[in-house]
Amino acid sequence: MNILILGSGGREHTFAWKIAQSPKCEKLFVAPGNSGTAEIATNVNVGVTDFPAIKIIVLENKIDLVVVGPEDPLVNGIHDYFLNDSEIKHVLVIGPQKAAAELEGSKEFAKEFLYRHNIPTAAYASFTKETVEKGYTFLETLSPPYVLKADGLAAGKGVVILKDLEEAKAELKSMLVDAKFGMASNKVVIEEFLDGIELSCFVLTDGEHYKILPTAKDYKRIGEGDTGLNTGGMGAVSPVPFATEEFLSKIEERIVKPTISGLKKDKLPYVGFVFIGLIKVGDEPKVIEYNVRMGDPETEVVLPRLKNDFVDILEAMGKGALNTIDIEIDSRAATTIMLVSGGYPETYEKGKLITGVASITDSIAFHAGAQIKDGEIITSGGRVMAITSYGNTYQEAIKKSYQSIDKLHFDKMNYRKDIGFDL
Ligand code: AMP
Ligand code: GLY
Repeated sequence: MNILILGSGGREHTFAWKIAQSPKCEKLFVAPGNSGTAEIATNVNVGVTDFPAIKIIVLENKIDLVVVGPEDPLVNGIHDYFLNDSEIKHVLVIGPQKAAAELEGSKEFAKEFLYRHNIPTAAYASFTKETVEKGYTFLETLSPPYVLKADGLAAGKGVVILKDLEEAKAELKSMLVDAKFGMASNKVVIEEFLDGIELSCFVLTDGEHYKILPTAKDYKRIGEGDTGLNTGGMGAVSPVPFATEEFLSKIEERIVKPTISGLKKDKLPYVGFVFIGLIKVGDEPKVIEYNVRMGDPETEVVLPRLKNDFVDILEAMGKGALNTIDIEIDSRAATTIMLVSGGYPETYEKGKLITGVASITDSIAFHAGAQIKDGEIITSGGRVMAITSYGNTYQEAIKKSYQSIDKLHFDKMNYRKDIGFDL
């Protein structure tokens, strides 16, 4: 099979690494890719939402299967684009159609879905510019902290949690009336605050059947002890030690099964990854959000634990035959530590030379914001590289990742030194 991966982060390097191991993979392309994917695949300089350019790549290279990494092309309807074009409709696209991608594209859509299918989640109400006064009144009925979410995609920044009622009202006004997040905050979902520890569950579906991948926990804040600004993710651990058999079976019965059957009932066509962001409140799992893709950096710990041929799985997903697959998981733990540019998630410099990558032997360096220039690897983004290791315990794996990081260098390199601290 000839395969095209869309995206350029650590998640896509991990997809490429896993797909390249499959004897079924003939030619592998990544658009636009990074320095890591350049080593094992052919990078093509095309943006992930440039559908006509992607079509040309697909036809020129006789691509049989497209794996969509990020949410943008899905929310913009890339799967529908393929299905509506007779020249490329035979291509298997891994990622939900536009209607189903709204689970990530609109927080209100996701909340309505959760309520309709009786899936445990935080209580909520949503407001627009016209109903902002009602929003203030609703905030007064809640106890702090207050959770405000821009309805649309806001590059991971659209969720604001505030302790003070007046600040929450001011934030609501800023989102709805002053369009703080542009169109994304035309509507705002206000939610009950859930107090607990978070984890992520990843589900594969072909629209009919499902398979559950290992759980993972990511570390979203920039600072040690989970402090400071939110980032795309600073590290991850799989499996999640507190996710016991009993807790996992609650997740499957109360959340995964109704999600998959809900998609069918609502006629939301879904071939792809369902990323369920969960919070453990007491002993009960509740849904915080859906994403319609794999997580990053969770992919960098989940896929390394998958023993199956990944192309077998992707093909089965695309052909509605996921029931023929038995998922096999490595019993070892995997952890990843994200190296980021100094200043991230605010402003940072790019173009820094990265040294030491070739000397890493005990870990896998999944490249993210890194590119090849004149034969050298340089930084090109905020999150630069995810250093993944295996261990018999997650502590052992984390230790290995930190030892590998000691061999790496770029100017103003930053990373969290406490991944796993709360486990
Ligand atoms: P989201 O983009 O919906 O995943 O929200 C981003 C982060 O905000 C989550 O990872 C949680 O840490 C936090 N969060 C979102 N909703 C809630 C909630 N209802 N209660 C507590 N924390 C929340
Ligand atoms: N690491 C969280 C995400 O991919 O959204």
